[in-house]
Amino acid sequence: MQQTAVYGVDDVSYQSAGGIEGLRRLVADFYRLMDELPEARALRQLHGESLTLASDKLACFLSGWLGGPKLFSEQYGAIAIPSFHAQWPIDEALSQSWLNCMAQAITLQPYDPAFADYLLRQLRMPAQRIVQASRNRHGIAGQ
Ligand code: HEM
Repeated sequence: MQQTAVYGVDDVSYQSAGGIEGLRRLVADFYRLMDELPEARALRQLHGESLTLASDKLACFLSGWLGGPKLFSEQYGAIAIPSFHAQWPIDEALSQSWLNCMAQAITLQPYDPAFADYLLRQLRMPAQRIVQASRNRHGIAGQ
């Protein structure tokens, strides 16, 4: 048993997520939930009809973000998550909706509970930065 997994170090988080196959399963559940949950409809509508490319991109991004292979930059180039998302007016409600889909998807994975908590806490940071960047781009209406 791992007593003190240091999730931010090296590729500990990537391995805890089950590597790229584990991340692909997480992302598949995440987008399936986004597609199915009535409360995620506004979030779903921001996305294109097909979620296939978005799924590949998110899994590749999370790989590098969690200390694994930098698959996103290798395959798709550089990305700055907050400014990329600022093309849409993303408020707290949409951000919460994204995090809720992710929280539910995380519970479906065979993760150590400490890693599940860690992952969701870490994801809140870029989600928050996205809301700020979007607010800066679109003004404060809709806060
Ligand atoms: C805060 C709430 C968020 C919303 C509303 C949101 C929304 C979106 C939308 C609408 C797309 C485009 C999908 C498409 O092309 O059909 C997208 C793409 C993407 N999102 Fe998010 N997202 C959020 C949070 C995040 C977070 C926290 C991350 C990273 C940890 C992330 C990573 C990505 C990546 C890597 C892509 C693909 C970028 C590309 O097309 O080049 N998103 N997101």
